[in-house]
Amino acid sequence: MGKNFKRTTVTSALPYANGGVHIGHLAGVYVPADIYVRYLRLKGEEVMFIGGSDEHGVPVTQRARKEGITPQQVVDRYHKMIKDSFEEFGISFDVYSRTTSKTHHQFASDFFRKLYDDGKLIEKTTKQFYDEQTGTFKTDRDIVGECPHCHAEANGDQCEKCGRDLDPTELINPRSKESGAKLILKDTTNWFLPLNEYEGWLKEWILEGHKEWRSNVYGQCKSWLDMELQPRAMTRDLDWGIPVPVEGADGKVLYVWFDAPIGYISNTKELCESNPERWGTWQQWWQQEDTRLVHFIGKDNIVFHCIIFPVMMKAHGDYIMPDNVPANEFLNLEGDKISTSRNWAVWLHEYLVDFPGKQDVLRYALTASAPETKDNDFTWAEFQARNNNELVAIYGNFVNRALQLTQKYYDGVVPACGELTDYDKETIAEFKDVKAKVESLLDNFRFRDAQKEAMNLARIGNKYLADSEPWKVIKTDPERVKTIINISLQLTANLAIAFEPFLPFSSKKLYAMLNVEPLGWENLGSTELLPAGHQLAKPELLFEKIEDEAIQKQMDRLARIKKENEAASYQAAPVKPNVSFETFEKLDIRVGLIKDCQKVKKSKKLLQFTIDDGTGTERTILSGIAAFYEDPSALIGKRILFVANFEPRQMMGIESQGMILSAVDFDESLSVVTTTKDVKPGSQVG
Ligand code: MF3
Ligand code: ZN
Repeated sequence: MGKNFKRTTVTSALPYANGGVHIGHLAGVYVPADIYVRYLRLKGEEVMFIGGSDEHGVPVTQRARKEGITPQQVVDRYHKMIKDSFEEFGISFDVYSRTTSKTHHQFASDFFRKLYDDGKLIEKTTKQFYDEQTGTFKTDRDIVGECPHCHAEANGDQCEKCGRDLDPTELINPRSKESGAKLILKDTTNWFLPLNEYEGWLKEWILEGHKEWRSNVYGQCKSWLDMELQPRAMTRDLDWGIPVPVEGADGKVLYVWFDAPIGYISNTKELCESNPERWGTWQQWWQQEDTRLVHFIGKDNIVFHCIIFPVMMKAHGDYIMPDNVPANEFLNLEGDKISTSRNWAVWLHEYLVDFPGKQDVLRYALTASAPETKDNDFTWAEFQARNNNELVAIYGNFVNRALQLTQKYYDGVVPACGELTDYDKETIAEFKDVKAKVESLLDNFRFRDAQKEAMNLARIGNKYLADSEPWKVIKTDPERVKTIINISLQLTANLAIAFEPFLPFSSKKLYAMLNVEPLGWENLGSTELLPAGHQLAKPELLFEKIEDEAIQKQMDRLARIKKENEAASYQAAPVKPNVSFETFEKLDIRVGLIKDCQKVKKSKKLLQFTIDDGTGTERTILSGIAAFYEDPSALIGKRILFVANFEPRQMMGIESQGMILSAVDFDESLSVVTTTKDVKPGSQVG
């Protein structure tokens, strides 16, 4: 741990309590944080893992409005749901509290008041958008209007169409998202944190002092610090949040990004006060120089954790600074950005319904494709492959073979290790290496590679068994087999240790099968974990294959969601230039009764219609809609509209005498147009 740190405070971003938790959250923040914390605990280090729900802010009020309930009801519902999901996935917080707690309100309020009293905040009057109908100021995200660049409908902070960041004052015709009312600009006074005054200090502290930070984090900080920092408002004109503890500040609350990170500290306080013997004082975890502070976050949180929160703590004066901020990039889902509003996500509570007991499989797959250095993609195909080809075929397979052979040859009792061959020694040397490798990777927040090293241990085991062939040797040299199995079992015990930070549920199961208590990180690499004569428990499979059907079900779900989203975002094509009545009249559109309908041989697109057009002779019309009618005969007896004077055309050797009218749906699929009454064939349409 470099410096002489005595304890580590690990925080993970407090998720907004306005929705569930999805794989993007888990991969980006909570699984890596949990791996890290479990690793430190295994090493016997003092560590506190802090989580909680972020219950203020506009996202919560927006959700409340959408669902027609109060913000408090929103946060009560989602706080519980989020907390349960984390528990189920083994995210081992020491405390998981919420920013609506009394402790937090008091703490954040006092923090603000100290900055205010010490003159660290500046008072500024600015013009903000105001809705006269509701008598409320609007935040950026509550304002919509026309984008000045691409003229699409845009939010006050950003245009989704062209991707530009916006200031709401740039919008053409700004309106309230809530009421649709036109907005006016009105004076309001708020308190600002003068970030600009801390620029020199920030540059020194980060750009000089923390070159070891991940390049994505360092790079983002640098680009912020290269632009001139501006004072930032720490209070807002809103009614959901912590009231500003200053006289005359009615109707104002603390900025959510002011109160939320303080939530880390107030949650610490809550934990310490609930068990002071175990945890000591909160000041120890936040104000003592021998404490190391690490923030796990996603990349959209970098500026808040590397610039704004540190400046808040610096301005306050008593706090330590983060030693590292291992932020991740984003995880996409099947090639598209994860989105709560478009339901483009895999929700943890839904995952567990479809894959009960498979928490570790998801943890494994997410760590294996963690977006550590660049955005990454989660695909169900890869999820299945990680499970079937790695967890089952490598880890599970090795463990199962070692345990089954022990059952078969020795009734589940660990045999004694005899004299080692050179090959045994090589194998042992190889797996002794793993500890140092995994440690150095975890110390540097490289979770993907660390997990790979753990898996490598199982690879070593498989190779060792395949090369040593105990199932053959048993016939010629049974003494030798005892050594092979002993080594394989020691290796199995090592796997339980090495994977414990990553796959806690599986390690627990494996320890139970080995009939031992958890072995402790310091034993990783040891060949003396299971003494000769030790009785193992009955072996079970550690992992199961995931079948194609289970994956297909997930793909079908995503396809359904994609379709719903496309339908929801469908925009009708622009209307063509006007035509005169005379022009329209030239088209002879009529009703036809379908007498027969068949696929045209050798054509994927064409259907051949036989139509009663009211003249007494039947008419043949070809139409390129075969792809949309699985069973063309189902159309027989329906009335359709067709252009009767459409120039005849030859297609596939058949003459088509007219054109059938079809509607083009949002997804380009076609549907013939019918009448609502049994109109006589040949009737004119106009
Ligand atoms: N709720 C924020 C988000 O989801 C994260 C808050 S982190 C904290 O982006 F620092 F404010 F706690
Ligand atoms: Zn735009």
